[in-house]
Amino acid sequence: MLSWDDFESEDPIAPIKPNQSAVAKPAEAKASLAEAAKHKPVAQEAVEKPAAKPAVASQTPPAASVDNSASIVEKAAAAVENLDVAAGLEELDMGAARLRVEDKRIINCHLDLNQLVPFKYDWAWQKYLDGCANHWMPQEVNMTADIGLWKNPEGLTDDERRIVMRSLGYFSTADSLVANNLVLAVYRHITNPECRQYLLRQAFEEAIHTHAYQYCVESLGMDEGEVFNMYRELPSIAKKAAWSLKHTRALGDPNFKTGTPETDQELLRNLIGFYAVTEGIFFYCGFTQILSMGRRNKMTGVAEQFQYILRDESMHLNFGIDMINQIKLENPQLWGEQFQQEVAQMIVEGTQIEIEYAKDSMPRGVLGMNAAMMEEYLQFIANRRLNQLGLKEQFPGAQNPFPWMSEIMDLRKEKNFFETRVIEYQTGGALSW
Ligand SMILES: [Fe+2]
Ligand SMILES: [Fe+2]
Repeated sequence: MLSWDDFESEDPIAPIKPNQSAVAKPAEAKASLAEAAKHKPVAQEAVEKPAAKPAVASQTPPAASVDNSASIVEKAAAAVENLDVAAGLEELDMGAARLRVEDKRIINCHLDLNQLVPFKYDWAWQKYLDGCANHWMPQEVNMTADIGLWKNPEGLTDDERRIVMRSLGYFSTADSLVANNLVLAVYRHITNPECRQYLLRQAFEEAIHTHAYQYCVESLGMDEGEVFNMYRELPSIAKKAAWSLKHTRALGDPNFKTGTPETDQELLRNLIGFYAVTEGIFFYCGFTQILSMGRRNKMTGVAEQFQYILRDESMHLNFGIDMINQIKLENPQLWGEQFQQEVAQMIVEGTQIEIEYAKDSMPRGVLGMNAAMMEEYLQFIANRRLNQLGLKEQFPGAQNPFPWMSEIMDLRKEKNFFETRVIEYQTGGALSW
């Protein structure tokens, strides 16, 4: 793992740390530079090449040709005068005809992406508005009862504790994986401003979710190292994370570009992997377990956090499905028989991995549920995902053993948490001069 400390030690004008020797051994420095270079994007590497010398901690600033004949104000005026107004506006044709709504497309669209309106995909804009109207923050949830229960040795059974630990272990890093995939891989390739507007809202919600899990871990006084490393150390969780990461790999390449049938399908694979499987299947065993705990009046603060997260997540999922289906409509050539089979297999793989997780997190019956019930629930969920993508169900006849989950997802019927919170945000956010 690369740390920023590695870079600091290579900066020729960086101050020397007390425990650092003034001159690094050239061989060591070269090795560390080579290691660091492996992790840098290509463009950055090219810019930084001149600095790639052995790390000698010299106190002399690098020599540069500085023009002292003009003042900064004069130089700024000249730069503004010569500014190229089209620079930085990628593929934008200055003075071209104004954009037409019928030309907007979700992928491979070459219109000006800085213009949000006119809207074409009202569903995306509506989801952005709905997401904003449901704003919440983790600190607003009262965790007092949970702290008492968690710290009381008699408060929970070992099986119940296992569920809390596993859930926080998976989710504390999963939402970061989702956020990173959105911002670093997906956003660039979605060429529609109203969808991008929702992606930005979603990215912030993922930050709130990671914050919520951190807040639970901190409130309960858990071992952070243990929880945040489960996705690398605990096999049933590591498998879920590895499956999700596998579907980021291609898009993570800075040279990846859509525009060919292969790369467009690669983007679709990523979207299906993240929206339909990661957010649409991998979240459901943990959510159901924690919400079942809340229904039994245990860990109600954690359960309330999960309830709000689940509502956000069901909107992420619905947005993702709408976006995937719209891409299919606009690019029917991508959705061939073979690709459909591959997608169906992805959904089934995700279901199998989540069933393994259910068995690991629930070795015995607990909280009125057991691994066999969860298996059927996950098959029921998988059928729904397949249906939503227009594919054939793979688990005929699977029923929903937890009908209360669907009710919980529609929090509008529930207590007035949001009614008060939304008003507070609106008045709190209003500026007065
Ligand atoms: Fe999330
Ligand atoms: Fe999400």
